[in-house]
Amino acid sequence: MAERIPVCESKTTTTPEFPMGWYSVARSQELQVGEVKRVRAFDRELALYRSRSGVAVIQDAFCPHLGAHLGVEGRVVGESLACPFHGWRFDTSGKCVEIPYCEEIPDRARIRMWPTDEANGEIYMWYHPENTAPEYELPRIAELNDANWAPPRMTEFEVPAHIQDIAENTCDPVHFQYVHRQLETPPSEVTVDDDGRRLYLRADARHTARPHQLDVTLHQPGLALVRTTYAPGAEMIVYNSAQPIDDRTTLLRWTLSVRREIEDLAGDEVIKGIIDGIKQDYPIWANKVHRRRPIFCKEDHTLVTYRKWVRQFYPDAAEA
Ligand code: FES
Ligand SMILES: [Fe+2]
Repeated sequence: MAERIPVCESKTTTTPEFPMGWYSVARSQELQVGEVKRVRAFDRELALYRSRSGVAVIQDAFCPHLGAHLGVEGRVVGESLACPFHGWRFDTSGKCVEIPYCEEIPDRARIRMWPTDEANGEIYMWYHPENTAPEYELPRIAELNDANWAPPRMTEFEVPAHIQDIAENTCDPVHFQYVHRQLETPPSEVTVDDDGRRLYLRADARHTARPHQLDVTLHQPGLALVRTTYAPGAEMIVYNSAQPIDDRTTLLRWTLSVRREIEDLAGDEVIKGIIDGIKQDYPIWANKVHRRRPIFCKEDHTLVTYRKWVRQFYPDAAEA
């Protein structure tokens, strides 16, 4: 008897969990001293605030008392956040330090905190499925703090894809030809550094209409630095950092800077090019499934390297 076909894969494929790492949750300039914001990331509700001393703090959103959202109308008091519902106050370690109408504070009155850091004009949180301490430092992008580089331009875009699939796109030279209408696929090489944590992609496009060399550093899924070199001194960087909102939605933040020497030649059209590029990827991402075990062909070696590399960001293994 003929075998019954299985149900459509769109019903059975599931995306991976969220990989551990540093993920941006806001631009620094979006959070003034004393300001409180609601953030959605990792399929959670979070509260972000900047204390009076200027430190960015990120924590789970819901008050242990009756569950009010601290990111909505919560109030910064010194180095703590007060709940808008009954005024319970939590310090930067998540401990309740005051109940305005009661002397005694229950031991269990605390909120889960997330390790936070700020650099590259952004506020980041360290995500690990067990909420453990950071395993490595947040990468600092030196060019964003260097007088030889022009003030950065920025843009954001929300895409309907899992963070891992977005990062995978970087290591997929062939799709540029089909999705982005690039005339040819420049020879590309993907390598990892000695301790295996960073992944590098180098594409040699010196023999194309707009000759350049492309160097991508993936510090982790969701933190990528793309350097384009047109000539010595004529360089551009595009820094891309991601906020996974849920398993099918990711907010991408781009920061672009060019060497002062070419400040007037490159900039706005590159930002426009990034957005146009994402619009081309969009229908693929919005409609694809995540393949846990893709069928690769012999020429797909950059993708194979990526899949091996990305596994380390899933501490409970079987993922990716
Ligand atoms: S719900 Fe937060 S203080 Fe009551
Ligand atoms: Fe793409």
